[in-house]
Amino acid sequence: MTMKIALIGFGVVGQGLAEILLEHGERIEKETGARFQVVAVSDMLKGSVYNPAGLDLSALLALTESGQSLEELEAPYKGWDALTTIRKADCEAICEATYTDLQSGEPATSHLRAAIETGKHIATTNKGPVALFGQELLAAADKAGIQLLAEGTVVSGTPILNLAQGPMAGIGVKAVKGILNGTTNYILTEMEKGAPYAEVLKRAQELGYAEADPTGDVEGWDAAGKVTILANLLMGGGLKPSDIDRTGITGISDEDFKKAKAEGKRWKLIGETRRHEDGTITGKVAPQALDLSDPLAGVGGATNALTFETELMGPVTVVGAGAGKIETGYSLLTDLIAIWRATN
Ligand code: HSE
Repeated sequence: MTMKIALIGFGVVGQGLAEILLEHGERIEKETGARFQVVAVSDMLKGSVYNPAGLDLSALLALTESGQSLEELEAPYKGWDALTTIRKADCEAICEATYTDLQSGEPATSHLRAAIETGKHIATTNKGPVALFGQELLAAADKAGIQLLAEGTVVSGTPILNLAQGPMAGIGVKAVKGILNGTTNYILTEMEKGAPYAEVLKRAQELGYAEADPTGDVEGWDAAGKVTILANLLMGGGLKPSDIDRTGITGISDEDFKKAKAEGKRWKLIGETRRHEDGTITGKVAPQALDLSDPLAGVGGATNALTFETELMGPVTVVGAGAGKIETGYSLLTDLIAIWRATN
């Protein structure tokens, strides 16, 4: 069975998915029965192509690699913008991986609305629309009978949202807390070893962990967006990123590191959402000096980790990659497989 898909955005994430389909497509089909054919790619900067018979992914990746327009490829339709592609391309699902804007949620929110209006399933890695309008979009998708999945918005392809909503259903999630930002975890890990802040931040940028503007990472905005998504999608809270009580890592001093070490503790930037006795849901991002016995304290570098506090199973912790081309590309794949399973 083949599912036709359109890629909206062909940056690192879209290319990651294309590479996975190219190199692992046969194995994935053998293991799951699902086969995905990319019929359209639309990218604001790289160009846009649509071929109802399917696109040559290795040619698209080669064009991107050499800095050429995607429109160099032979295709019956070219130059469609994202909205036209979503509305007009004959496909069952779209993968939305354009840039994240946590203030307006655009242009991604309009992309998701267009997909819902035209009955196309959605896999997205875009934090903006999900953090700002997640519940409204999910309700609209539900009403339209389409799937809207967003595994890659939190901890890339490490299964968090689908795990919590799938196998962990009924467990009673009381709180979710964890290391949700790889850049800051990398910085704190290196600073603990004695490296200066500015130098480590530069390295985090070179390694591709940090956002284009790293303020979003170090001041906790990225983690706050993810906390909002966890609060709204897993706990039913109606929070906005601006509702999150947020402190970044820039205020942690050398003295603080020394003191934590002497006390057998380690600094981590912890994002947390919690359901309180009175039913209210809150979200917080702040540095915490954790006991070394806490499973989150042992997670170093750019790795992410999340502990669910649950009614039936106590703490359940998941550790895994929080960013990366293939890792985030995989988050789209896992959502596509879930969509395929739900619709076949
Ligand atoms: N800048 C983010 C991080 C990327 O460091 O975790 C993943 O959202």
